[in-house]
Amino acid sequence: MDASRIDTLNQKAYDILLQNRRHKAGFQYTEPSPESYPYQWFWDSCFHAIILSHFNAEDAKKEIRSLCSRQEGNGLIPHIIYWDEPSPETMRIDGEIDFEWGTPGTSSMLQPPMLAYAVWDVYRRDGDREFLKEMYPHLYHFYTHLMTDRDPRRNMLAGILSPDESGEDDSPRFDRPLSLPPRHSAEENFAKRRELADKNRTCNFDAPFCMKKFFWVKDVTFNAILVRNLRRMGAIAQEIGRMDEALNFRRTELNVANAMRDRMLVNGLFWSLFGDDYDKIFVKTWAIFTPLFARILSPEEAEKLVALHLHDDDAFNTPYSVPTVARHEPSYAPGGNEAGFSWRGPVWMAANWFIFKGLVNYGFLEDARRIRDHSALLIEKSGFRENFNPETGEGLGAKNFTWGALVIDMFAHDI
Ligand code: GLC
Repeated sequence: MDASRIDTLNQKAYDILLQNRRHKAGFQYTEPSPESYPYQWFWDSCFHAIILSHFNAEDAKKEIRSLCSRQEGNGLIPHIIYWDEPSPETMRIDGEIDFEWGTPGTSSMLQPPMLAYAVWDVYRRDGDREFLKEMYPHLYHFYTHLMTDRDPRRNMLAGILSPDESGEDDSPRFDRPLSLPPRHSAEENFAKRRELADKNRTCNFDAPFCMKKFFWVKDVTFNAILVRNLRRMGAIAQEIGRMDEALNFRRTELNVANAMRDRMLVNGLFWSLFGDDYDKIFVKTWAIFTPLFARILSPEEAEKLVALHLHDDDAFNTPYSVPTVARHEPSYAPGGNEAGFSWRGPVWMAANWFIFKGLVNYGFLEDARRIRDHSALLIEKSGFRENFNPETGEGLGAKNFTWGALVIDMFAHDI
Protein backbone atom coordinates (compact mmCIF):
# COMPACT_ATOMS: atom_id res chain seq x y z
CA MET A 1 0.00 0.00 0.00
CA ASP A 2 1.35 3.43 -0.86
CA ALA A 3 2.44 5.85 1.83
CA SER A 4 -0.30 8.42 1.24
CA ARG A 5 -3.06 5.84 1.83
CA ILE A 6 -1.37 4.82 5.08
CA ASP A 7 -1.04 8.48 6.11
CA THR A 8 -4.75 9.02 5.50
CA LEU A 9 -5.61 5.93 7.56
CA ASN A 10 -3.36 7.15 10.37
CA GLN A 11 -5.06 10.52 10.35
CA LYS A 12 -8.55 9.01 10.36
CA ALA A 13 -7.60 6.57 13.11
CA TYR A 14 -6.32 9.34 15.36
CA ASP A 15 -9.36 11.49 14.59
CA ILE A 16 -11.82 8.83 15.68
CA LEU A 17 -9.94 8.20 18.93
CA LEU A 18 -10.00 11.94 19.64
CA GLN A 19 -13.66 12.32 18.70
CA ASN A 20 -14.71 9.52 21.04
CA ARG A 21 -12.59 10.72 23.97
CA ARG A 22 -14.37 11.54 27.21
CA HIS A 23 -13.32 13.08 30.52
CA LYS A 24 -15.13 12.06 33.70
CA ALA A 25 -14.28 12.42 37.37
CA GLY A 26 -10.67 13.33 36.62
CA PHE A 27 -10.19 10.40 34.25
CA GLN A 28 -9.88 10.15 30.49
CA TYR A 29 -11.07 7.27 28.33
CA THR A 30 -12.47 6.51 24.87
CA GLU A 31 -15.97 5.34 24.03
CA PRO A 32 -15.97 2.54 21.44
CA SER A 33 -18.98 4.15 19.73
CA PRO A 34 -20.72 7.20 21.25
CA GLU A 35 -24.15 6.23 19.88
CA SER A 36 -24.11 2.51 20.66
CA TYR A 37 -21.53 2.02 23.43
CA PRO A 38 -21.32 5.23 25.45
CA TYR A 39 -19.20 3.77 28.27
CA GLN A 40 -15.69 2.54 28.94
CA TRP A 41 -15.14 -1.11 28.00
CA PHE A 42 -12.27 -3.31 29.09
CA TRP A 43 -10.70 -4.86 26.00
CA ASP A 44 -11.71 -1.85 23.93
CA SER A 45 -9.60 0.33 26.24
CA CYS A 46 -6.68 -2.06 25.82
CA PHE A 47 -7.01 -1.67 22.03
CA HIS A 48 -7.28 2.10 22.44
CA ALA A 49 -4.07 2.18 24.46
CA ILE A 50 -2.27 0.12 21.80
CA ILE A 51 -3.49 2.53 19.09
CA LEU A 52 -2.82 5.68 21.13
CA SER A 53 0.70 4.52 21.94
CA HIS A 54 1.55 5.32 18.30
CA PHE A 55 0.35 8.90 18.65
CA ASN A 56 0.72 9.95 22.25
CA ALA A 57 1.95 7.59 24.96
CA GLU A 58 0.65 9.84 27.75
CA ASP A 59 -2.91 9.53 26.46
CA ALA A 60 -2.48 5.76 26.22
CA LYS A 61 -1.43 5.72 29.88
CA LYS A 62 -4.47 7.77 30.86
CA GLU A 63 -6.77 5.27 29.15
CA ILE A 64 -5.21 2.45 31.16
CA ARG A 65 -5.21 4.34 34.45
CA SER A 66 -8.87 5.09 34.02
CA LEU A 67 -9.64 1.41 33.38
CA CYS A 68 -7.71 0.29 36.47
CA SER A 69 -9.30 2.90 38.70
CA ARG A 70 -12.38 0.73 39.22
CA GLN A 71 -10.58 -2.52 39.99
CA GLU A 72 -12.44 -4.50 42.63
CA GLY A 73 -11.02 -5.86 45.87
CA ASN A 74 -10.72 -9.37 44.42
CA GLY A 75 -8.65 -8.12 41.47
CA LEU A 76 -11.41 -8.10 38.85
CA ILE A 77 -11.37 -5.17 36.45
CA PRO A 78 -14.93 -4.77 35.17
CA HIS A 79 -15.77 -5.11 31.51
CA ILE A 80 -17.86 -1.92 31.59
CA ILE A 81 -17.41 1.28 33.59
CA TYR A 82 -20.47 3.48 33.15
CA TRP A 83 -18.78 6.59 34.58
CA ASP A 84 -21.88 8.76 34.67
CA GLU A 85 -22.90 9.93 38.09
CA PRO A 86 -25.20 8.86 39.59
CA SER A 87 -24.29 5.37 38.38
CA PRO A 88 -26.94 4.06 36.03
CA GLU A 89 -26.45 0.33 36.78
CA THR A 90 -27.83 -0.33 33.36
CA MET A 91 -26.61 -1.02 29.92
CA ARG A 92 -28.35 0.19 26.84
CA ILE A 93 -28.71 -2.41 24.14
CA ASP A 94 -29.58 -0.81 20.81
CA GLY A 95 -30.74 2.18 22.78
CA GLU A 96 -33.85 0.38 23.95
CA ILE A 97 -33.40 -2.28 26.54
CA ASP A 98 -32.19 -1.28 29.96
CA PHE A 99 -30.51 -4.15 31.62
CA GLU A 100 -28.69 -4.59 34.90
CA TRP A 101 -25.29 -6.08 34.30
CA GLY A 102 -23.49 -5.88 37.61
CA THR A 103 -22.82 -3.77 40.65
CA PRO A 104 -23.52 -0.02 40.70
CA GLY A 105 -21.33 1.93 38.34
CA THR A 106 -19.63 -1.01 36.69
CA SER A 107 -20.35 -4.48 35.40
CA SER A 108 -19.08 -7.40 37.49
CA MET A 109 -17.72 -9.39 34.60
CA LEU A 110 -14.49 -9.78 32.68
CA GLN A 111 -13.40 -9.45 29.10
CA PRO A 112 -10.39 -11.08 27.37
CA PRO A 113 -7.35 -10.16 29.49
CA MET A 114 -5.42 -7.88 27.11
CA LEU A 115 -4.19 -5.49 29.81
CA ALA A 116 -0.57 -6.61 30.24
CA TYR A 117 -0.17 -6.66 26.47
CA ALA A 118 -1.40 -3.07 26.22
CA VAL A 119 0.74 -1.85 29.15
CA TRP A 120 3.87 -3.36 27.60
CA ASP A 121 3.09 -1.86 24.18
CA VAL A 122 2.84 1.57 25.81
CA TYR A 123 6.09 0.99 27.73
CA ARG A 124 7.83 0.00 24.50
CA ARG A 125 7.13 3.43 23.01
CA ASP A 126 8.68 5.60 25.68
CA GLY A 127 10.50 3.34 28.14
CA ASP A 128 8.73 4.87 31.14
CA ARG A 129 9.56 2.33 33.84
CA GLU A 130 7.66 4.35 36.45
CA PHE A 131 4.48 3.61 34.52
CA LEU A 132 5.21 -0.11 34.70
CA LYS A 133 5.78 0.17 38.44
CA GLU A 134 2.56 2.11 38.87
CA MET A 135 0.51 -0.43 36.92
CA TYR A 136 2.14 -3.56 38.28
CA PRO A 137 0.01 -3.99 41.44
CA HIS A 138 -3.17 -3.70 39.34
CA LEU A 139 -1.86 -6.20 36.83
CA TYR A 140 -0.62 -8.58 39.50
CA HIS A 141 -4.00 -8.72 41.22
CA PHE A 142 -5.91 -8.97 37.99
CA TYR A 143 -3.97 -11.95 36.59
CA THR A 144 -3.87 -13.61 40.01
CA HIS A 145 -7.67 -13.29 40.15
CA LEU A 146 -7.90 -15.04 36.79
CA MET A 147 -5.69 -17.91 37.92
CA THR A 148 -7.51 -18.41 41.23
CA ASP A 149 -11.17 -17.39 41.19
CA ARG A 150 -11.49 -18.36 37.54
CA ASP A 151 -9.65 -21.64 38.00
CA PRO A 152 -10.91 -22.96 41.34
CA ARG A 153 -9.83 -26.55 40.63
CA ARG A 154 -6.34 -25.51 39.51
CA ASN A 155 -6.64 -26.99 36.07
CA MET A 156 -4.62 -24.11 34.62
CA LEU A 157 -7.42 -22.85 32.39
CA ALA A 158 -9.45 -19.73 33.15
CA GLY A 159 -13.23 -20.09 32.95
CA ILE A 160 -15.75 -17.58 31.71
CA LEU A 161 -19.18 -17.24 33.23
CA SER A 162 -21.08 -15.77 30.34
CA PRO A 163 -20.61 -15.47 26.57
CA ASP A 164 -20.23 -11.73 27.12
CA GLU A 165 -16.99 -12.36 29.01
CA SER A 166 -15.46 -13.71 25.81
CA GLY A 167 -16.05 -10.35 24.12
CA GLU A 168 -17.99 -12.27 21.44
CA ASP A 169 -21.45 -12.01 22.91
CA ASP A 170 -23.49 -14.08 20.45
CA SER A 171 -20.78 -16.31 19.00
CA PRO A 172 -22.05 -19.78 18.04
CA ARG A 173 -19.30 -21.24 20.25
CA PHE A 174 -21.73 -20.58 23.10
CA ASP A 175 -24.89 -22.01 21.55
CA ARG A 176 -24.54 -25.41 23.17
CA PRO A 177 -23.66 -24.12 26.63
CA LEU A 178 -26.75 -21.90 26.37
CA SER A 179 -28.87 -24.83 25.04
CA LEU A 180 -29.54 -23.05 21.76
CA PRO A 181 -29.63 -24.63 18.28
CA PRO A 182 -27.23 -23.31 15.58
CA ARG A 183 -30.07 -21.26 14.10
CA HIS A 184 -32.17 -19.12 16.38
CA SER A 185 -33.16 -15.49 16.66
CA ALA A 186 -31.14 -12.68 18.22
CA GLU A 187 -34.00 -12.20 20.69
CA GLU A 188 -33.72 -15.82 21.87
CA ASN A 189 -29.98 -15.41 22.21
CA PHE A 190 -30.27 -12.25 24.23
CA ALA A 191 -33.00 -13.73 26.45
CA LYS A 192 -30.68 -16.61 27.38
CA ARG A 193 -27.81 -14.29 28.18
CA ARG A 194 -30.05 -12.10 30.23
CA GLU A 195 -31.38 -15.10 32.18
CA LEU A 196 -27.77 -16.08 32.86
CA ALA A 197 -26.87 -12.61 34.14
CA ASP A 198 -29.92 -12.73 36.43
CA LYS A 199 -28.77 -16.08 37.86
CA ASN A 200 -25.24 -14.77 38.29
CA ARG A 201 -26.62 -11.80 40.15
CA THR A 202 -28.32 -14.12 42.65
CA CYS A 203 -24.79 -15.40 43.38
CA ASN A 204 -23.47 -11.90 43.76
CA PHE A 205 -21.13 -12.59 40.83
CA ASP A 206 -19.07 -14.93 42.96
CA ALA A 207 -17.28 -17.17 40.51
CA PRO A 208 -15.72 -20.03 42.50
CA PHE A 209 -18.71 -20.74 44.70
CA CYS A 210 -21.73 -20.25 42.60
CA MET A 211 -21.69 -18.75 39.16
CA LYS A 212 -19.94 -21.67 37.57
CA LYS A 213 -23.03 -23.79 38.13
CA PHE A 214 -24.81 -21.95 35.33
CA PHE A 215 -22.29 -21.55 32.53
CA TRP A 216 -18.69 -22.66 32.70
CA VAL A 217 -16.70 -22.42 29.51
CA LYS A 218 -12.96 -22.64 29.05
CA ASP A 219 -12.72 -20.60 25.92
CA VAL A 220 -9.90 -20.97 23.40
CA THR A 221 -9.65 -17.27 22.59
CA PHE A 222 -9.77 -16.15 26.22
CA ASN A 223 -7.07 -18.61 27.26
CA ALA A 224 -4.88 -17.95 24.21
CA ILE A 225 -5.00 -14.24 25.05
CA LEU A 226 -4.23 -15.13 28.66
CA VAL A 227 -1.11 -17.08 27.64
CA ARG A 228 0.21 -14.18 25.56
CA ASN A 229 -0.49 -11.74 28.40
CA LEU A 230 1.13 -13.94 31.04
CA ARG A 231 4.27 -13.83 28.94
CA ARG A 232 4.11 -10.06 29.01
CA MET A 233 3.54 -10.18 32.78
CA GLY A 234 6.81 -12.10 33.00
CA ALA A 235 8.54 -9.40 30.97
CA ILE A 236 7.01 -6.58 33.02
CA ALA A 237 7.92 -8.20 36.36
CA GLN A 238 11.47 -8.77 35.14
CA GLU A 239 11.80 -5.21 33.86
CA ILE A 240 11.01 -3.79 37.28
CA GLY A 241 13.26 -6.25 39.09
CA ARG A 242 10.68 -8.65 40.53
CA MET A 243 12.52 -11.76 39.42
CA ASP A 244 10.65 -14.37 41.48
CA GLU A 245 7.33 -13.13 40.27
CA ALA A 246 8.63 -12.99 36.70
CA LEU A 247 9.54 -16.64 36.96
CA ASN A 248 6.14 -17.49 38.39
CA PHE A 249 4.33 -15.76 35.55
CA ARG A 250 6.48 -17.61 33.02
CA ARG A 251 5.70 -20.90 34.74
CA THR A 252 1.99 -20.12 34.76
CA GLU A 253 2.13 -19.17 31.10
CA LEU A 254 3.64 -22.55 30.24
CA ASN A 255 1.16 -24.38 32.43
CA VAL A 256 -1.81 -22.72 30.74
CA ALA A 257 -0.32 -23.38 27.30
CA ASN A 258 0.19 -27.06 28.20
CA ALA A 259 -3.32 -27.36 29.63
CA MET A 260 -4.71 -25.90 26.41
CA ARG A 261 -2.79 -28.47 24.40
CA ASP A 262 -3.80 -31.33 26.69
CA ARG A 263 -7.49 -30.59 26.83
CA MET A 264 -8.45 -28.57 23.77
CA LEU A 265 -6.36 -29.88 20.87
CA VAL A 266 -7.83 -32.41 18.41
CA ASN A 267 -6.16 -33.04 15.05
CA GLY A 268 -4.43 -29.67 15.01
CA LEU A 269 -7.41 -27.55 16.07
CA PHE A 270 -8.17 -26.11 19.50
CA TRP A 271 -11.80 -26.27 20.71
CA SER A 272 -13.46 -24.47 23.61
CA LEU A 273 -14.62 -26.65 26.50
CA PHE A 274 -17.85 -26.76 28.37
CA GLY A 275 -18.91 -27.99 31.82
CA ASP A 276 -17.27 -30.19 34.41
CA ASP A 277 -16.51 -32.90 31.86
CA TYR A 278 -14.67 -30.56 29.53
CA ASP A 279 -16.90 -31.40 26.56
CA LYS A 280 -15.45 -29.97 23.38
CA ILE A 281 -17.54 -27.47 21.45
CA PHE A 282 -16.96 -28.37 17.82
CA VAL A 283 -18.00 -25.12 16.17
CA LYS A 284 -15.46 -23.62 13.80
CA THR A 285 -14.93 -19.93 14.47
CA TRP A 286 -11.91 -17.62 14.09
CA ALA A 287 -10.89 -18.85 17.59
CA ILE A 288 -8.98 -21.66 15.89
CA PHE A 289 -6.39 -19.05 14.81
CA THR A 290 -5.81 -17.50 18.24
CA PRO A 291 -3.22 -20.15 19.26
CA LEU A 292 -1.01 -18.48 16.61
CA PHE A 293 -1.22 -15.27 18.66
CA ALA A 294 -0.30 -17.24 21.81
CA ARG A 295 2.53 -19.08 19.97
CA ILE A 296 1.44 -22.47 21.23
CA LEU A 297 1.55 -24.32 17.91
CA SER A 298 4.56 -25.98 16.34
CA PRO A 299 5.58 -24.54 12.93
CA GLU A 300 4.17 -27.66 11.26
CA GLU A 301 0.83 -27.32 13.05
CA ALA A 302 0.70 -23.64 12.13
CA GLU A 303 1.42 -24.42 8.48
CA LYS A 304 -1.45 -26.91 8.34
CA LEU A 305 -3.84 -24.56 10.13
CA VAL A 306 -3.24 -21.81 7.59
CA ALA A 307 -3.30 -24.07 4.53
CA LEU A 308 -6.33 -26.13 5.51
CA HIS A 309 -8.51 -23.49 7.14
CA LEU A 310 -7.48 -19.90 6.45
CA HIS A 311 -7.13 -20.68 2.73
CA ASP A 312 -10.26 -22.83 2.55
CA ASP A 313 -13.03 -21.27 0.42
CA ASP A 314 -15.55 -23.27 2.37
CA ALA A 315 -14.28 -21.91 5.68
CA PHE A 316 -12.44 -18.60 6.12
CA ASN A 317 -11.35 -17.53 2.63
CA THR A 318 -13.99 -14.92 1.78
CA PRO A 319 -13.71 -11.84 -0.50
CA TYR A 320 -13.16 -9.72 2.62
CA SER A 321 -11.40 -11.64 5.34
CA VAL A 322 -11.51 -12.93 7.98
CA PRO A 323 -15.08 -13.99 8.81
CA THR A 324 -15.56 -14.75 12.50
CA VAL A 325 -17.39 -18.01 11.71
CA ALA A 326 -16.53 -20.57 9.01
CA ARG A 327 -18.75 -20.40 5.93
CA HIS A 328 -19.75 -24.05 6.23
CA GLU A 329 -21.16 -23.68 9.75
CA PRO A 330 -24.99 -23.71 9.87
CA SER A 331 -24.82 -20.65 12.11
CA TYR A 332 -22.89 -18.58 9.52
CA ALA A 333 -24.69 -15.23 9.10
CA PRO A 334 -22.41 -12.86 7.11
CA GLY A 335 -24.93 -10.01 7.14
CA GLY A 336 -25.11 -10.44 10.92
CA ASN A 337 -26.57 -7.21 12.08
CA GLU A 338 -29.63 -7.37 9.84
CA ALA A 339 -30.69 -10.30 11.97
CA GLY A 340 -29.45 -8.62 15.14
CA PHE A 341 -26.37 -10.86 15.35
CA SER A 342 -22.79 -9.69 15.24
CA TRP A 343 -20.28 -12.46 16.01
CA ARG A 344 -21.82 -15.09 13.75
CA GLY A 345 -19.86 -14.33 10.60
CA PRO A 346 -19.07 -10.63 10.18
CA VAL A 347 -15.45 -9.48 10.13
CA TRP A 348 -14.34 -7.64 13.29
CA MET A 349 -11.15 -5.58 13.22
CA ALA A 350 -9.92 -6.90 16.55
CA ALA A 351 -10.24 -10.49 15.31
CA ASN A 352 -8.30 -9.51 12.19
CA TRP A 353 -5.67 -7.86 14.36
CA PHE A 354 -5.19 -11.00 16.49
CA ILE A 355 -4.96 -13.21 13.41
CA PHE A 356 -2.55 -10.77 11.75
CA LYS A 357 -0.26 -10.80 14.80
CA GLY A 358 -0.40 -14.59 14.94
CA LEU A 359 0.53 -14.93 11.27
CA VAL A 360 3.46 -12.54 11.73
CA ASN A 361 4.62 -14.63 14.73
CA TYR A 362 4.94 -17.66 12.49
CA GLY A 363 6.32 -15.86 9.42
CA PHE A 364 3.22 -16.15 7.20
CA LEU A 365 3.87 -12.67 5.90
CA GLU A 366 1.94 -12.91 2.66
CA ASP A 367 -1.20 -13.95 4.54
CA ALA A 368 -0.61 -11.26 7.15
CA ARG A 369 -0.31 -8.62 4.42
CA ARG A 370 -3.52 -9.85 2.78
CA ILE A 371 -5.48 -9.52 6.02
CA ARG A 372 -4.00 -6.10 6.66
CA ASP A 373 -4.92 -4.97 3.13
CA HIS A 374 -8.45 -6.31 3.49
CA SER A 375 -8.77 -4.48 6.81
CA ALA A 376 -7.63 -1.20 5.26
CA LEU A 377 -9.94 -1.72 2.30
CA LEU A 378 -12.93 -2.32 4.56
CA ILE A 379 -12.35 0.96 6.36
CA GLU A 380 -11.78 2.89 3.14
CA LYS A 381 -14.92 1.39 1.62
CA SER A 382 -17.29 1.34 4.61
CA GLY A 383 -15.81 3.56 7.31
CA PHE A 384 -15.32 2.93 11.02
CA ARG A 385 -18.17 0.48 11.50
CA GLU A 386 -18.53 -2.14 14.20
CA ASN A 387 -18.17 -5.06 11.79
CA PHE A 388 -18.36 -5.92 8.11
CA ASN A 389 -20.00 -8.42 5.80
CA PRO A 390 -17.19 -10.79 4.71
CA GLU A 391 -18.90 -11.45 1.37
CA THR A 392 -19.60 -7.86 0.29
CA GLY A 393 -17.53 -5.60 2.56
CA GLU A 394 -20.65 -3.73 3.65
CA GLY A 395 -20.32 -1.97 7.01
CA LEU A 396 -22.63 -3.23 9.78
CA GLY A 397 -23.62 -2.35 13.32
CA ALA A 398 -22.40 0.60 15.37
CA LYS A 399 -21.02 3.70 13.65
CA ASN A 400 -17.89 5.68 14.57
CA PHE A 401 -16.56 2.48 16.11
CA THR A 402 -12.93 2.72 17.22
CA TRP A 403 -11.62 -0.77 16.51
CA GLY A 404 -10.92 0.04 12.84
CA ALA A 405 -8.05 2.17 14.11
CA LEU A 406 -6.21 -1.07 14.98
CA VAL A 407 -5.24 -1.20 11.33
CA ILE A 408 -2.56 1.42 11.99
CA ASP A 409 -0.90 -0.95 14.46
CA MET A 410 -0.82 -3.55 11.70
CA PHE A 411 0.89 -1.06 9.36
CA ALA A 412 3.45 -0.29 12.05
CA HIS A 413 4.89 -3.75 11.26
CA ASP A 414 7.53 -3.47 8.62
CA ILE A 415 6.41 -6.43 6.51
C1 GLC B 1 -19.88 -5.43 21.74
C2 GLC B 1 -18.76 -6.42 21.52
C3 GLC B 1 -17.76 -6.38 22.68
C4 GLC B 1 -17.28 -4.95 22.87
C5 GLC B 1 -18.46 -4.00 23.05
C6 GLC B 1 -18.04 -2.53 23.09
O1 GLC B 1 -20.67 -5.80 22.81
O2 GLC B 1 -19.26 -7.71 21.35
O3 GLC B 1 -16.67 -7.21 22.43
O4 GLC B 1 -16.40 -4.85 23.94
O5 GLC B 1 -19.36 -4.14 21.97
O6 GLC B 1 -17.36 -2.20 21.93
